[in-house]
Amino acid sequence: MTTQTLPLPDGALLDEAAVHSLFLDARTVQTFTSQEVTDAQVAAAYDLARWAPTAMNTSPLRVALVRSAAARERLVQHMAPGNRDRVLAAPLALVVAADPAFHRHAATLVPHAPDFEASFEPQVEARERMSRDNAWLQAGYLLLALRGVGLGVGAMGGMDAAGVDADLFADQGWRTLLVLTVGHPEGEGTTRPRAPRLTFPQASTTL
Ligand SMILES: Cc1cc2nc3c(=O)[nH]c(=O)nc-3n(C[C@H](O)[C@H](O)[C@H](O)COP(=O)(O)O)c2cc1C
Repeated sequence: MTTQTLPLPDGALLDEAAVHSLFLDARTVQTFTSQEVTDAQVAAAYDLARWAPTAMNTSPLRVALVRSAAARERLVQHMAPGNRDRVLAAPLALVVAADPAFHRHAATLVPHAPDFEASFEPQVEARERMSRDNAWLQAGYLLLALRGVGLGVGAMGGMDAAGVDADLFADQGWRTLLVLTVGHPEGEGTTRPRAPRLTFPQASTTL
């Protein structure tokens, strides 16, 4: 199962087991056991992820828990065909979205800037862009936090996101980014061979 070993540098905060569970051994899960995922588990992951940083503390990530058969059927209609069965079979699906109206939470998020909400209100395009950029960042935090609380995660971007927005988020105005399936992996959770990643020299430069 272990794909590689990693000598941790002095001062590393994560131990070997955590590094393997979060990064080295964790796979994109396609098959789950029938074990339930509770709201409390998802909330615990969110309660970790929410402390990781966003620009101006905008915190635009929003999450919809898709649990009932009726809600799943609604979501699945908008998924790419290859993703549908996975959403139906997973113990729980999360629609991860961005909220362009993040500025409405200014009193909570930026109490030190009393004019934050009013100044962002007319900046529609900037709010759209900022909410997407920062919610994507938070989506990554959330994925790792879900792993951190002991869950396996599958990620899917293949869908008609505008269709999901119109169908599920007409009231909130949220913008769908991706769907995460969560649960406990059946075995390794996938039969796909692990694809290599770029090495640090391939993916970096020193200026
Ligand atoms: C943002 C994002 C979108 C993805 N969209 C899909 C998808 O629509 N369908 C799918 O089968 N896999 C999708 N994946 C899964 C990736 O292909 C997978 O995470 C990647 O190949 C790494 O696999 P591994 O974690 O098993 O190494 C997506 C992953 C991410 C992070």
